Amino acid sequence: MGVQAATGQPDPPTFDRQLSEAVEAFTDRFGRPPRFAAAAPGRVNLIGEHTDYNDGYVLPMAIDRWTVILADRSSQRQSTLWAIDLDELIAVDLTAPLSPVAGSFANYLLGVVDQFAARGHSVPNLDLAVTSTVPMGAGLGSSAAIEVAMATVLEQVTGVQIDRLEKALLCRRAEHTFPGAPCGIMDMFIATQAQRGHALLIDCRSNVARAIPMPPADQITVLIADTNVRHALASSAYAARRSTCRQAAAKLGLDSLREADLGMLATAQLSEHQRRCARHVICESQRVLLAAAALKTNDLDALGELMFDSHASLRDLYEVSCPELDTLVDAAAELRAQGGVIGARMTGGGFGGCAVVLCRTSAIEKVSHRLQRQFARRFGRPPTIFSSPPAGPAHPLRI
Ligand code: GLA
Repeated sequence: MGVQAATGQPDPPTFDRQLSEAVEAFTDRFGRPPRFAAAAPGRVNLIGEHTDYNDGYVLPMAIDRWTVILADRSSQRQSTLWAIDLDELIAVDLTAPLSPVAGSFANYLLGVVDQFAARGHSVPNLDLAVTSTVPMGAGLGSSAAIEVAMATVLEQVTGVQIDRLEKALLCRRAEHTFPGAPCGIMDMFIATQAQRGHALLIDCRSNVARAIPMPPADQITVLIADTNVRHALASSAYAARRSTCRQAAAKLGLDSLREADLGMLATAQLSEHQRRCARHVICESQRVLLAAAALKTNDLDALGELMFDSHASLRDLYEVSCPELDTLVDAAAELRAQGGVIGARMTGGGFGGCAVVLCRTSAIEKVSHRLQRQFARRFGRPPTIFSSPPAGPAHPLRI
């Protein structure tokens, strides 16, 4: 909060305010308060980028930014789905077979309804409103937050409880089939299983996670710096990287790059691009394990080094960074020498979005001002900087 005030940007609404404003908006539009409600968090990935869909390791934590979904049964033969923040509304019959609606926010909701139907749970028509403080398309898991909040609301509506891992897998299928993004499991996994005060070391092959305590807030703060760059090519480039990895694994005779090692790359018939991508994936997964160990033993120097190495690999080998992200990470690297910054890197899919900067809590004002200044000097505008504690998982809400 102090960071936002210091940089002249408005505080994000607190969760209580977000919820009460959403309930009021729902009540105004639909003429009665909602009966069902749920919230799901965004996330920031500390390290382990583009490893989840290669069956590797990731180390995300949930952030204190939430998607809230409110609903009640509809008395009509159709549902009204309303994105409060976009002021977009669509009418659709949820009891009929569903298909994606080109370019609509509703795909994140419809995909989940479709998955419930595929499991044999019939979803009735609903009046439904969605609102979110997770920045959209910023690499902070905003899509998964909507999907997991939706699944959590539908659990209440249908009376069906779904195991948390099953729910994450269901939401990933929803994302693949309706919005059509071939994402990995990380975002849905952390949204369903986050632990307050912890990061999760997730093995994306076995889907087993270990909670690692984050350092106390009075010592270390997680800053998130949003470049506000949203590249249209992000989703096609993401799919292209994913298929490059699949091709590289196939050429190595493996199911996934999780089974690959650097020795195999030396002798395999790979294109230069495939070799670089595979190299990133292999080394990044190793860095995640080292970073988790460093976090556990409070070896912050080692953790910081691994974060900077991860960024360099994403920039040079995997080629998913951009000048705005590099500028933030370079500025953070300069501050590292003075002791304020532990480590920094791009977070999420890349091509814009956010950098995560781990810094000493005593230095957050200085660090955020310096990031603002360096960034504004080059791009003529400031990034949006906020901090977040490691938040808890998706949950139903009582209105
Ligand atoms: C996006 C996807 C995740 C993951 C990251 C890159 O956020 O949704 O599954 O692949 O990119 O690490």
